[in-house]
Amino acid sequence: MTADYLTLTEKTLSELLPSEDTRERSLIESMKYSLEAGGKRVRPRLVFEFSALCGGDPESAACFACAVEMIHTYSLIHDDLPCMDDDDMRRGKPSNHRVFGEDIALLAGDALLTLAFETLSSDRAAKAAGDRACRLASKTLAAYAGATGMVGGQVIDLESEGKSAPLEVLREMDYKKTACLIKAACELGCLSAGAGEKELRAASLYGESIGIAFQIQDDILDCTATDEELGKPVGSDSENGKSTYVSLLGIEKCRELVDELTEKAIKALDVFENDASSLREFALELAQRRK
Ligand code: IPE
Ligand code: IPE
Ligand code: MG
Ligand code: MG
Ligand code: MG
Repeated sequence: MTADYLTLTEKTLSELLPSEDTRERSLIESMKYSLEAGGKRVRPRLVFEFSALCGGDPESAACFACAVEMIHTYSLIHDDLPCMDDDDMRRGKPSNHRVFGEDIALLAGDALLTLAFETLSSDRAAKAAGDRACRLASKTLAAYAGATGMVGGQVIDLESEGKSAPLEVLREMDYKKTACLIKAACELGCLSAGAGEKELRAASLYGESIGIAFQIQDDILDCTATDEELGKPVGSDSENGKSTYVSLLGIEKCRELVDELTEKAIKALDVFENDASSLREFALELAQRRK
């Protein structure tokens, strides 16, 4: 699965990007720069894994996987802007705005967000996954990526800077800014395969649990890893006075929480009749990750 899903993700992303042979070439180059900079592709993998678990084929999942990765990449481009986290490195390279300027970086994010929904409503997606699955995927992704999901979480993050936010605020922030897109990826995988309610609910719980664990681990790595390992600047959170699980609870307690959430995610996989060992291992892999 690992090699196949990566190859199909890269191939489909490049097919979906507009041609650079246009007057607005700088915009397309900027979109391509971040999209192809070598992220871990965690969200596409979740789409493909859940699709396969529910009996779907890779082509049905491909457009859904790419749509989630486009939204994720746009969120990173905007997250690095000077008006947000003001970070100069991403995916091991200079941040988008350091290369293309803030104006183009902002617009590349906008265009990736739009391209995600163009992809979900494309003939290619409809042919592979069916009209109903495409409509449900758009509705799901829009809800998780927007004001009450990822974008809302980013607002809580910014407005908590310089404060010591209580645990329930941090939980809501991490749920919205990070877990929502991860949860969307899991649900879209199920939708691409036409899975039922029971499977969707389980995927949703798995995604929510590994999603919150993913952000806590990201905060731990911000204090314990190196720039080279992460491909982004460590110490960014303390520099920006971010309120995180780590600043509130300390690293040891956070490690315990990551393990507890990972166990909870793995438990959610019990409802699947097919072999879910690959998603079990992936949850454990993410909890141990160093990048
Ligand atoms: C980084 O996500 C932002 C968070 C939600 C913590 P990833 O760690 O998945 O970033 P890439 O895609 O590998 O660059
Ligand atoms: C970002 O959280 C979550 C997003 C929605 C982009 P962070 O600000 O901690 O992500 P990194 O550490 O810059 O990747
Ligand atoms: Mg941020
Ligand atoms: Mg950031
Ligand atoms: Mg971070």
